[in-house]
Amino acid sequence: MSTALELRVGLIGLGRMGRAMAERLIEQAVPLTVWNRDPARARGLPEGSIVASPAAVAEHSDIILIVVRDAAALDDVYASLLTTSLAGKTVVEMSTASIGAVTSALARAADAGATVLDAPISGSVCPARRGELLIMAGGETSTFERARPVFDRLARRAVHTGALGSGIAMKLVVNLPLAAYWQSLGEAIGLGIRHGLAADQVLAVIADSKAAIGALTGKIDRILDPSLPAEFDVAGVLKDLEAMRDSAAAVQFDVPACTTARDAAQAAVGAGFGNSDLALLVRLAAGLSAAPGASS
Ligand SMILES: NC(=O)c1ccc[n+]([C@@H]2O[C@H](COP(=O)([O-])OP(=O)(O)OC[C@H]3O[C@@H](n4cnc5c(N)ncnc54)[C@H](OP(=O)(O)O)[C@@H]3O)[C@@H](O)[C@H]2O)c1
Repeated sequence: MSTALELRVGLIGLGRMGRAMAERLIEQAVPLTVWNRDPARARGLPEGSIVASPAAVAEHSDIILIVVRDAAALDDVYASLLTTSLAGKTVVEMSTASIGAVTSALARAADAGATVLDAPISGSVCPARRGELLIMAGGETSTFERARPVFDRLARRAVHTGALGSGIAMKLVVNLPLAAYWQSLGEAIGLGIRHGLAADQVLAVIADSKAAIGALTGKIDRILDPSLPAEFDVAGVLKDLEAMRDSAAAVQFDVPACTTARDAAQAAVGAGFGNSDLALLVRLAAGLSAAPGASS
């Protein structure tokens, strides 16, 4: 990306995704202001870019990106954001939560004068660091065009999905088959093992077959080695599945595959694996050991 960005960008939330996105934007020479609830997560970022509250991010920025965990985090962040004027600002909600939680948070920002987009992301930490995310954005075309130069620095593709709320709807739609895939992959590995195949061999053959999906190659290491650090955790998968289930219930649509995956994620969280990488769900469905360091 060669032309300089004239907009000042703010980023709220320096978790795994937000931190990777901040590093990417700094590398792209984007003027950036950041805030995270736990200041330790800002360590190593330029001192002058770190401020004390979401409201302070808004005061220093034209476009405010928000990448926090869930609906409860949105409540806390918007409570601060809405203490300052948002006139002339664009608020871009990139967190994954239910459609209702995202749209009602953005409606409050719009009431405070902001133009708004719901623009959740697909991809994980490495694509974020490389500027190769997929962004699905709902909102006015003019607001999408305003944010596009920022999206171009973060994403391999930014799709304008339609009206406000359509971006988060698309994100939940994308994540549903993914969650069902990890569950069925675990069952496939478990079936193979019980017929004398090795887990690593099953994974290598599936990865080279029509049963592979784009996300599989990057997850094989974590499926085989549960001691590797989490890129996206089981509790986050549960949170997403509950957002899908709530969004389906709102339109009286049955999602049995979502319910199965949700029950498995709930059981894993209940068993104490909420902080593990989602690859652990594959191991559990396969009947493999969940212990760190175990490969079978
Ligand atoms: N990781 C992925 O691969 C991935 C991919 C696509 C989309 N996403 C979505 O991106 C969002 C962030 O994911 P992540 O993996 O970066 O999560 P994460 O590593 O768990 O980080 C969560 C972030 O949310 C903040 N947060 C949580 N509760 C908060 C509160 N009450 N008030 C203010 N901030 C709060 C955390 O602040 P503290 O540091 O203070 O706890 C942290 O910055 C989620 O909605 C996730 O579903 C993630």
